[in-house]
Amino acid sequence: MKKEKINKFLSHIPKNALIAFIVIIWIVPTFGLLVTSFRPVQSINSSGWWTILNAPVGSKEYAANCEACHGKRGDLLPNANLGDPQLISKFDRSVLLLPALKKEINGAPHMQDIPVPSAQVVADIVVHLKNISGLEVRPKVTLNNYIDALVGYRGTRTYTQDCAEGTPPLDINCNISDLLNPRGMGRAFVNSLFVTIPATFLPILLAAFAGYAFSWMNFKGRMTIFAILVGLQVVPLQMTMVPISRIYAQLGLNATFLGVWLFHTGFGLPYAIYLMRNFLGSLPKDLFESAYLDGANHWTAFTKLAIPLALPAIASLGIFQFLWVWNDLLVALVFLGGTKPVMTYQISNMVSSLGAGWQILTAAAFLSMLLPMIVFFSLQRFFVRGMLAGAVKG
Ligand code: HEC
Repeated sequence: MKKEKINKFLSHIPKNALIAFIVIIWIVPTFGLLVTSFRPVQSINSSGWWTILNAPVGSKEYAANCEACHGKRGDLLPNANLGDPQLISKFDRSVLLLPALKKEINGAPHMQDIPVPSAQVVADIVVHLKNISGLEVRPKVTLNNYIDALVGYRGTRTYTQDCAEGTPPLDINCNISDLLNPRGMGRAFVNSLFVTIPATFLPILLAAFAGYAFSWMNFKGRMTIFAILVGLQVVPLQMTMVPISRIYAQLGLNATFLGVWLFHTGFGLPYAIYLMRNFLGSLPKDLFESAYLDGANHWTAFTKLAIPLALPAIASLGIFQFLWVWNDLLVALVFLGGTKPVMTYQISNMVSSLGAGWQILTAAAFLSMLLPMIVFFSLQRFFVRGMLAGAVKG
């Protein structure tokens, strides 16, 4: 008995290790992205996110080379107070500090018997001196990347810095209205929500109607129509882009939200109907027949019986459709473009226009995956049940 248990435990190890491995592979970069998005740009450029808990740059080097004479805070020698920003601004680069360290003071080497450190170490010490003198304080974490991403900031410094000094680029007002700057993720977030919610809700609603009709209503050609609908899944989205954009142009639907909703609804429907019909069709027949005997019409059977029972299928369809629409770039690019930029559009724009400012991209990427993660985790208990929905009766 005991041996059996041990064997069972051992036999599960490879499977569990594999799952743990997959989870780690998925979690580590996500976590790294999250940490990076909160780091100041200079830190991102000079060290990896895993160094976030290390001591600040240069503090160790300072302690080893300078602390003996200048003290922990740099103020032990009043004539050479390293906490004085005015003094440090004269030595704010390693090429300026290095000669000072090599110069003699009162006929003796500056650092006496301590050897003058290498240029790289001196560069790190400069960072530390700027930090303790307050000349350029570099916090470990900052919200600047998020602020810059939200307002679509493209200045050479950060939104906070430039606004504090009153020298922002032209399209920035330095007040709350900047959140709706068309170049920023704030506006794009609102637009993405505007696209995604109806484009998720509409196909599921229509598919629920259709799924019920295909399962429980008798009409001629039921199976043929269903087969055609399912077959429509193979139509590639790209193929319809030209005809539909021409029709949209005539109807004035280009660059409108309505156009995108209709497009996503059309392409979401075949799969949604397929799934809903399989799920609703697999519900017990007696249930519906006794409901009809009790005098229920189709509408009551649909709202009181089918919909509550189909919630897992609806939830998993909802997740799929939501993720698909949220992450879609092609349709948003073709039918909305820059007039009503969504998050994917904005990110792709940033990738091509922000060569050096990619720290903003870390925040932007995280902002864009925030909502899908919330949706996924809040609906995931339905998810597995719903995934099996299509498999129950095929
Ligand atoms: C052996 C002791 C000693 C060590 C070690 C030492 N210093 Fe000094 N440092 C001095 C003295 C003494 C002065 C001159 C103070 C004065 O003018 O009264 C000075 C002056 C300076 C000044 C001002 C120079 C100027 O021209 O105004 C700077 C900057 C400075 N030190 C930086 C450093 C740094 C950085 C380190 C570590 C790499 C360091 N020191 C290590 C003793 C030391």
